[in-house]
Amino acid sequence: MKEFSDSIGQALKQHVAVYLSSVGIKDFSPSERAILAYAACLCLGNPTPTDSKQVIWDVKARARESQYITTFSETDHEAAYHTDTQYFPVPERLFALYCIQPARCNGGHSSILDARALREDLKQNHPRLLEALTSKTFPFRVPSAFASSLDPGLADVTLAPIFSSDVFMRYRLDMLEKGFQCVPELHDSEARWAIDQLEKLIKKTPNQAEFFMAEDSMVLVDNHLALHARTAFSDHERHLVRIRMRTEDQTVNNGKARMIQRRVEQAQRVHS
Ligand SMILES: [Fe+2]
Repeated sequence: MKEFSDSIGQALKQHVAVYLSSVGIKDFSPSERAILAYAACLCLGNPTPTDSKQVIWDVKARARESQYITTFSETDHEAAYHTDTQYFPVPERLFALYCIQPARCNGGHSSILDARALREDLKQNHPRLLEALTSKTFPFRVPSAFASSLDPGLADVTLAPIFSSDVFMRYRLDMLEKGFQCVPELHDSEARWAIDQLEKLIKKTPNQAEFFMAEDSMVLVDNHLALHARTAFSDHERHLVRIRMRTEDQTVNNGKARMIQRRVEQAQRVHS
């Protein structure tokens, strides 16, 4: 286990993600495989809980009532490029996905985008845009499960730049749009322009790799240096487990990100 996690840790010093096509534990039961994936993660960082205090989170399509806004990890829709927990002042540095049951419908393809290369492209070719994404403050709506108040009319919003020196990149378009609804004064023409241009660049950047989470495969992603996405799928038996981790060297928040509270008119629960 030490050898396995050390080699991943070494690889993550140079790369923004590591994909293992076969971990070699598929003869174990699904719950044993989830625990073994968790054990490997324990050697890499400190696992953190998602929503209902679960450190091992099942990534599965779930049927929900209409007013519940599902997370990317609960739907079969396309998940556009994003970083995880971008609504925390300091998002977890790492996350792992282990595949127990792959999608058998030709969908559910994953991809990783190298944010370092994206930033370099911005620096070389779009300096004004990089300046806006670095110097402006953007609002990311905090999901209801992490809200600091029990009052559903109060929303928490994390204010932070998209690129910064502590958290290299944070991004998720839908949480940003929900943030703009809570803090409309930040939705000025330059902010709108910057987000629209960034979306266009993300869609056409060559600095990305697509892969398929096959049975017994695992991916470890540096959540500060990479964005990730997944195509839609229709096989509801697809089952992955996700474990997010804080790491020893995780940058402390140097004050660029801060959380505020805003009163919202429509009480709506927002999930991550
Ligand atoms: Fe994600």
